[in-house]
Amino acid sequence: MFTITLVILSIFSLTIPSSSSDQQPQPPADVCIIGTGMAGSSVAHFLRQYSSSISQIRMFERHPIVGGRMATVTIGGETFEAGASILHPKNYHALNFTNMLNLKVKGPSASDSSFSLGIWDGQKFLFKTIDSKSKSPVVQYFVSLANSLRMFVRYGISLLKMTNFVEVTVDSFLKYYESKESRPIFKTVEDMLQWADLYNLTTQTLEEELTGLNYSPLLIQELITVITRINYGQSCKISGLAGAVSLAGSGGNLWAVEGGNWQMAAGLVNRSDVTLHLEEEIESVTNLQGFYELNSTKGNSYRCQVTVIATPLDELSIHFTPKVSTTERKLQHTHATFVRGLLNPAYFGLDTVSDIPELIGTIESSDLPFTCISILKEHNEKDMTYKMFSRQSLTDSLLDQIFSIRSETIRINWGAYPHYHAPEKFSRFMLDEEHLYYVNAFENAASTMETSAVAAENIARLIVSRLSGYQPLKLYGMKTSTLDLNLQHQEL
Ligand SMILES: Cc1cc2nc3c(=O)[nH]c(=O)nc-3n(C[C@H](O)[C@H](O)[C@H](O)COP(=O)(O)OP(=O)(O)OC[C@H]3O[C@@H](n4cnc5c(N)ncnc54)[C@H](O)[C@@H]3O)c2cc1C
Ligand SMILES: *[C@@H]1O[C@H](CO)[C@@H](O)[C@H](O)[C@H]1NC(C)=O
Ligand SMILES: *[C@@H]1O[C@H](CO)[C@@H](O)[C@H](O)[C@H]1NC(C)=O
Ligand SMILES: *[C@@H]1O[C@H](CO)[C@@H](O)[C@H](O)[C@H]1NC(C)=O
Ligand SMILES: *[C@@H]1O[C@H](CO)[C@@H](O)[C@H](O)[C@H]1NC(C)=O
Repeated sequence: MFTITLVILSIFSLTIPSSSSDQQPQPPADVCIIGTGMAGSSVAHFLRQYSSSISQIRMFERHPIVGGRMATVTIGGETFEAGASILHPKNYHALNFTNMLNLKVKGPSASDSSFSLGIWDGQKFLFKTIDSKSKSPVVQYFVSLANSLRMFVRYGISLLKMTNFVEVTVDSFLKYYESKESRPIFKTVEDMLQWADLYNLTTQTLEEELTGLNYSPLLIQELITVITRINYGQSCKISGLAGAVSLAGSGGNLWAVEGGNWQMAAGLVNRSDVTLHLEEEIESVTNLQGFYELNSTKGNSYRCQVTVIATPLDELSIHFTPKVSTTERKLQHTHATFVRGLLNPAYFGLDTVSDIPELIGTIESSDLPFTCISILKEHNEKDMTYKMFSRQSLTDSLLDQIFSIRSETIRINWGAYPHYHAPEKFSRFMLDEEHLYYVNAFENAASTMETSAVAAENIARLIVSRLSGYQPLKLYGMKTSTLDLNLQHQEL
């Protein structure tokens, strides 16, 4: 403790020249968070929950609204999720936030759970479930039985193994909700994944993983690829972990926040006593020995003892001094196209609109211009709202082939999630040995609202533990080794 006190004092003697007291209390820290999505808003929330010695939290958001990749789109006067849309029943942080903030859970409606699915290969439907518009539960029961049978006939018994693979992975993930007494604070993504037995799943592709488990190749090439393409815009060459998360997102009992998932971020920001700087983009982060100076596009300059990057750095040009190193990563872009109108059955080789499945998934094929099309809302038989995902922007001339009626079109280009490739390499949670943190290093494991919250909770604990006492804001080159030793024992 003695040497550390000395280090604190030596900083003070630089910044407060006239100070002569030898009993300096730990100065309250100012924290700056760049990004107001699920990651940034969760960091603010957990910092307030875990510490009372943080004075000010500033949050910066380049856009006029909070939420990031949780956002809504309004088409034809109605509002839909434009980015992150579904949550798993075991996404406990999201569930707790929703309850705490008095938001309403929007469960799956009866029509959502019995939608028809078609797997399109660009020329024909490889597989189509039977769709029944009948309201009779008996008819619905037999239709769903028939659909299950058809699936079994095509994909075989490995369909059952899918559920097991997902459940084992979800159960491992539940370790991150264990109490803080038994759950360590992680300095690296690798440690965090190893501890929950999830790391191995990032070392090989989903295809390799499932082939090793004797899944039928047809199941992998068709149904599973359809799912990974919908959720991550990529093939079954994504890592086993990202794949398991995709498959979990195709199960039952999925939910969303009524009125928009972005309200979780808005509510957390509102409740965490933060100074919110909207429409202010951070351009540079400079370590000025003891604090960081953040400069924004508005020409403002902010001082923070702790800086948290809560956005992917891959496509940003934030200027760091000194330079920071992150693992190279490409973002997968997903173009979300919202169309009010009506699909053209002829494009799919069908006679009537009602023959078109409510969800059209696709396999990996170079001549497929889109990844999926689904009905968001049926206004009436000739007037629907659709959501399409694609890897490239969809041209008007293509849309005019796919749709017979198109009254409104909205296009959003998302830098959506990492382009996954196994074995995954991870950036560090700590971008320097001081107080520069990076939540989105975790996105290489899997990118979801919940994983952002889980990574954010760990970062909040890491910050609080490193701020409390033995990790003074030290000068360059004066590194103490006490940090690593104490970190393991520190309880919040
Ligand atoms: C189309 C799509 C569908 C998805 N579907 C799902 C789903 O169904 N379920 C699910 O759980 N997840 C889904 N995801 C993934 C999910 O959206 C993300 O994993 C999660 O929202 C990431 O949150 P974040 O806070 O880490 O990042 P972001 O939400 O991207 O937040 C980062 C914020 O930082 C801001 N920012 C960036 N740079 C600066 C700067 N220099 N200065 C100030 N502000 C800055 C950005 O404007 C942004 O608001 C989907 C994503 C997309 C794109
Ligand atoms: C969610 O809230 C409940 C009740 O307040 C609490 O017991 C539980 O630990 C919380 N879960 C998480 C993951 O924080
Ligand atoms: C992960 O892989 C390593 C090396 O292949 C192996 O020793 C270890 O037991 C595996 N861990 C788990 C949890 O499967
Ligand atoms: C912010 O939180 C307060 C309660 O703490 C609530 O009354 C208010 O409506 C909230 N504002 C927004 C914009 O959510
Ligand atoms: C940030 O702004 C301050 C004050 O205007 C300026 O002195 C400094 O050089 C700027 N830093 C960078 C990296 O641009």
